[in-house]
Amino acid sequence: MDNPGFTERVFSGIQPSGNLTLGNYLGAVKRFVEMQDDGIETVYCMVDLHAITVWQDPAELSRNTRELAAGFMACGLDPDRSILFNQSQVSAHAELGWIFNCVARLGWMNRMTQFKDRAGRNAERMSLGLYAYPSLMAADILVYHATHVPVGEDQKQHVELSRDIAAKFNHDFGVTFFPEPVPVIEGSATRIMSLRDGTKKMSKSDPSDMSRINLTDDADTISRKIRKARTDALPLPDSTDGLDGRPEAGNLVRIFAALGDMSESGVLEQFGGQPFSKFKPALAEIAVSTLKPISAEMRRLTGDPGEIDAILGRGADRAAAIANPILDQTFEILGTVRSRFRER
Ligand code: AMP
Ligand code: TRP
Repeated sequence: MDNPGFTERVFSGIQPSGNLTLGNYLGAVKRFVEMQDDGIETVYCMVDLHAITVWQDPAELSRNTRELAAGFMACGLDPDRSILFNQSQVSAHAELGWIFNCVARLGWMNRMTQFKDRAGRNAERMSLGLYAYPSLMAADILVYHATHVPVGEDQKQHVELSRDIAAKFNHDFGVTFFPEPVPVIEGSATRIMSLRDGTKKMSKSDPSDMSRINLTDDADTISRKIRKARTDALPLPDSTDGLDGRPEAGNLVRIFAALGDMSESGVLEQFGGQPFSKFKPALAEIAVSTLKPISAEMRRLTGDPGEIDAILGRGADRAAAIANPILDQTFEILGTVRSRFRER
């Protein structure tokens, strides 16, 4: 068993840096809801301190944070059963993040592929925060002693880094204080691709809105984006082997499977041999029927920002009640003098 002696606890985070996409929903949030419904203790965070590693317009940052909170709840997260809050309201994240900056090695950070992808040839002009962000992510997880982290495929390397940081901290101080969290990457939708390019991840930061489906898109927009999605000229194959080398076809089949809670071969049993002109309308229909209630509920919730703020405030109190004692113990292990701090 992973992490004997640690109670199972789930932590995950999403950046409030734009619309939630169908990729976020199928790759992450849907799993968040399943874990909550399984009765596991679940902590879900809008990671605003991660968002500001690249420039964020202040008014948009608060709007995006509230919209993401609304998206979480519209997808089925319940603030009574999960802890929902925004990261910057719980200062323990940033404090443990600094400590982990002193544990993580430069060589480890240099291997992070997401930084290389995002910075490209402009690395010299990126913020120091963008480079250091995986160590803050480790702090997000470990300040709760979380054991399981549901994420999409792109975050696997970062969760593995947090295991390395936990192990090095434990080793350096001769303790078994931090668990080594495991990434939970399951289902057919761990990597949903762009509708314009089947080799690129569907992303909220892609300049083309046609490349993604947003949870706030209306039915017409969803249908139009699917109709215009890039495909090849062949009909759908009869089995999943026939999807090899056809990234766009594979992506649409995976999206259908994830939306319909079925396997990819189940989708091909139904649609094998059919042209995209038949498959796309069926895909649009299932996408619209799944997303319509979510976007309606998001609109309702964002109509009352005061209520969202109250929910995030209460969530932050509950999060801090777990995180602060763990941070205090960390400082104690480090040997810093804590004479003015919280009573335990
Ligand atoms: P981000 O939008 O980068 O903050 O990602 C939030 C969560 O959604 C993370 O767990 C990601 O792994 C997941 N995610 C983001 N984009 C996709 C995608 N295209 N397919 C599957 N999961 C995704
Ligand atoms: N880095 C993640 C992303 O960009 C978001 C994130 C921040 C996260 N902290 C986390 C995910 C902790 C899981 C656990 O998608």
